Amino acid sequence: NWTTGNVIEEQVEAIRELVGDKRAICGLSGGVDSAVAAALVQKAIGSQLTCVYVDHGLMRKGETEQVEKDFVAATGVQLKVVDAEERFLKALAGVTEPEEKRKIIGREFIRVFEQAQAEIIADEGPAVEFLVQGTLYPDVVESGGGTGTANIKSHHNVGGLPEDLEFKLIEPLRKLFKDEVRMVGKELGLPEEIVQRQPFPGPGLGIRIVGEVTKERLDLLREADAIAREELTAAGLDRDIWQCPVVLLADVRSVGVQGDGRTYGHPVVLRPVSSEDAMTADWSRLPYDVLARISTRITNEVRDVNRVVLDVTSKPPGTIEWE
Ligand code: XMP
Repeated sequence: NWTTGNVIEEQVEAIRELVGDKRAICGLSGGVDSAVAAALVQKAIGSQLTCVYVDHGLMRKGETEQVEKDFVAATGVQLKVVDAEERFLKALAGVTEPEEKRKIIGREFIRVFEQAQAEIIADEGPAVEFLVQGTLYPDVVESGGGTGTANIKSHHNVGGLPEDLEFKLIEPLRKLFKDEVRMVGKELGLPEEIVQRQPFPGPGLGIRIVGEVTKERLDLLREADAIAREELTAAGLDRDIWQCPVVLLADVRSVGVQGDGRTYGHPVVLRPVSSEDAMTADWSRLPYDVLARISTRITNEVRDVNRVVLDVTSKPPGTIEWE
């Protein structure tokens, strides 16, 4: 008899027994899975858990604050935030090739995380023996052998931490599907914005800028992305679409006429998709009036963007993200 209450109770008890008086750490990505896993473990062992959040500067508007404030307020978790924006920007300077960007971001992420980890281990207190991960049932099945699909992009996520760790894993969501994880998160009192969050790639906005990643371009894309999200939410479309990446074509310029003069700015691409599992996807047939509002607002409110275009490609042949 499956209820979220049962799942929580069972896991809390099992985690307490497993951890004893030792300590655990957990990497937070801002996503649903790591947040719910951390909240569950927090409920079980309280201050014996420390969470680490690496701010790589590639997050969307408001997301880091959501983790720092709302998540902490909801769970009381002990959180170590590492502001690594400058480090990531430096490592990404001059890089335009998508796979190279992904590898750099993944590599820097592991280095920063390992350093934070070392600091936590060095703190006074019992031994840090456990690492919490938000592995879901579909992840377990997918990595359980089989032929699998060719790896098209090198993925980066909090689950992809180094393998030579001397930690024992705690994976409290191993038997759950995504919708069940959301229910558990809700029951644990996590904010709606975190529990209902749509997928967002580990490398963040770094792979949504076609061209070099700079602070200025990130700020610009953050604004455009926030407007698109706001309008989609206001139109009640969050549950209908899987996600809607907004992509900045930073190396492309086109002529526009804005205010009282000619402009020479950048286009952004809207990439709304419908999907069951992200393996395949179709472009979402968004209502024209919603598209019109997004377009008008972005071109009015975001400096240097003078064109909004719509991606009408399914997956395959296009992937969901542009890089
Ligand atoms: P693609 O672009 O391969 O994306 O069609 C499929 C889904 O995966 C997300 N995505 C990622 N998620 N780390 C992640 O955790 C990554 O490196 C990554 N790259 C893509 C993408 O947003 C979509 O939901």
